[in-house]
Amino acid sequence: MGADRDHGAQPAPSRLTSTMLNAAVFALAISCWASAATPPAVATAARAEDRVAYPIGYSRWTHIRSGLITAKHPAFPRFGGLHHIYANPASLEGYRSGRYADGSVLVYDLFETRDHGDGIVDQGPRRQIDVMVKDSKRFAATGGWGYAEFAAGTTTDRLNNADRDGCAACHASRKQQGHVFSEWPNRVEPRADES
Ligand code: HEC
Repeated sequence: MGADRDHGAQPAPSRLTSTMLNAAVFALAISCWASAATPPAVATAARAEDRVAYPIGYSRWTHIRSGLITAKHPAFPRFGGLHHIYANPASLEGYRSGRYADGSVLVYDLFETRDHGDGIVDQGPRRQIDVMVKDSKRFAATGGWGYAEFAAGTTTDRLNNADRDGCAACHASRKQQGHVFSEWPNRVEPRADES
């Protein structure tokens, strides 16, 4: 992710026309990443540091979807690479209803990609994980979600409250969906007796 952790640092509008993926949610993602994420007017100074615990065992939760942001996209320095989104059991009903219960935890697990030059591109080393934890009271200032980021191999949230306000401002554009961007396309699997 590099040194730039300021989510307010948005790309120039002229560079925003290229979208990497066609999926509807991702198109929305691109438009959100492209828009100036104005931090909400919250009194960050008066707030205690909203540090969130490392989500132990998240890679065994439900895999929601994966996505790729390539170097051609303005969000690359901050969120570029191959990401996988995982959701804990408490959050799954939220993916159906748009209403996420307190205790919901979502993880954006971000990896570099490796281009082998022979047509194969695969997953490289982890860059970071970005985390959202739902607690309507504790995180009332950021829409009921706590936001955190853990550099690869670390278990201490490296964001400050201003960073978190940047996360929350962009995610607030998905208010109708409970501040969550990803959708869960594979939730209905064929039943064993139908295949
Ligand atoms: C400018 C917009 C924007 C900002 C800023 C942003 N995100 Fe997101 N975030 C997205 C989009 C778009 C997705 C969906 C990616 C996908 O569906 O593949 C997403 C997905 C996520 C997810 C998975 C759950 C979901 O909503 O789909 C988590 C967790 C997450 N972001 C955490 C963070 C954290 C922590 C920060 C701040 C460090 C942050 N985000 C900042 C746009 C943003």
